[in-house]
Amino acid sequence: MASIRIERLSKVFGATRAVDGIDLAIPDGEFVVLVGPSGCGKTTTLNMLAGLETPTSGDIWIGDSCVTDWEPGERNLGMVFQSLALFPHMTVFDNIAFPLRIKRVAPEAIAPRVRAVSDTVHVGHLLDKRPATLSGGEAQRVALARTLIVQPSVFLMDEPLSSLDAKLRVEMRTELKRLHAALRSTFVYVTHDQAEAMTMADRIVVMHQGRIQQVGRPLEVYGDPVNRFVAGFFGVPAMNFVEGELRPEPDGARFVAQALRVTLPGHEGSSGPAILGVRPEHVRFADGRESWPATVSLVEPLGDETLVFLDYGGPSSLVAKVDAEEKVAVGDRRSLTFRLDRVVLFDDKTGGRIPG
Ligand SMILES: Nc1ncnc2c1ncn2[C@@H]1O[C@H](COP(=O)(O)OP(=O)(O)O)[C@@H](O)[C@H]1O
Ligand SMILES: [Mg+2]
Repeated sequence: MASIRIERLSKVFGATRAVDGIDLAIPDGEFVVLVGPSGCGKTTTLNMLAGLETPTSGDIWIGDSCVTDWEPGERNLGMVFQSLALFPHMTVFDNIAFPLRIKRVAPEAIAPRVRAVSDTVHVGHLLDKRPATLSGGEAQRVALARTLIVQPSVFLMDEPLSSLDAKLRVEMRTELKRLHAALRSTFVYVTHDQAEAMTMADRIVVMHQGRIQQVGRPLEVYGDPVNRFVAGFFGVPAMNFVEGELRPEPDGARFVAQALRVTLPGHEGSSGPAILGVRPEHVRFADGRESWPATVSLVEPLGDETLVFLDYGGPSSLVAKVDAEEKVAVGDRRSLTFRLDRVVLFDDKTGGRIPG
């Protein structure tokens, strides 16, 4: 078991600042997910934690030790990578036992430990097989077992599910969460997939261009994003962004964009160009004190819900996520409102959140 502390950590490759001065404290036993688009510095951060990359500056602490200059083998970490790298000529048993043999664990102690971790990740029936005969999910579990067997205090995982098909990925998410609950070790998990981050993390660390944008629990990051980047990164379909203008009003501020007019309480004193963000599930068909006409341009049934694309006169359409029972057809004229308590505003230049 171990906590992790990252202080002012940077990594520069030539002209690229892959990681740009990040600070992060991870308590012992937490499941933390580093998430962000490709190239934002996730793998570089994880590799510095593992000791596979040397930081350009900054420090890494594991437990009470500053490990910045420690070799990977001295850090008591378990790493699971995107590419599985099971040894093809060895059985599953020998693959899982491999790290113990490297450590010269006594042979009679190896078999019980292999059986124990194999049971944990449900590969006990596969021990005599060769990797080539395993399904993707089985191979992924074997790779996990091989990491688990050394009982690391910290697990580092870099997109471990990305080679699996969609259904299996969803199943493995649940399994990893169960595994974390059973082991209670610290998990640092890297993915570009916002759904993986939302479903598995105790806390999400959102990265962009080598910097941490926001750290928070999944629903905090989703509901209370600090900037437009974070707001747009989570949610399918993505948050609607509407460019418009804020005008001060006695009871708040009014946001105006074409026919769309929303009075936002709590934004007293805000004025000028701004971007309004509203998630599809917070766009409603209703006549309200403030509602606007829109024309349905596209309908996408998802089964449980329906996505409705609406033209309100702006440069792009708004997407609403409505109940599947809602009767709606292309060409319909409908009245729209937003759930005003869930609407967020961003600075049109910096993308920073305008506090309400
Ligand atoms: N060994 C390297 N040499 C040069 N540039 C690198 C190296 N590793 C990563 N980079 C660059 O650093 C940035 C961050 O990369 P990476 O950490 O792999 O991102 P992610 O895992 O989030 O996709 C990218 O611009 C990438 O091209
Ligand atoms: Mg990567």
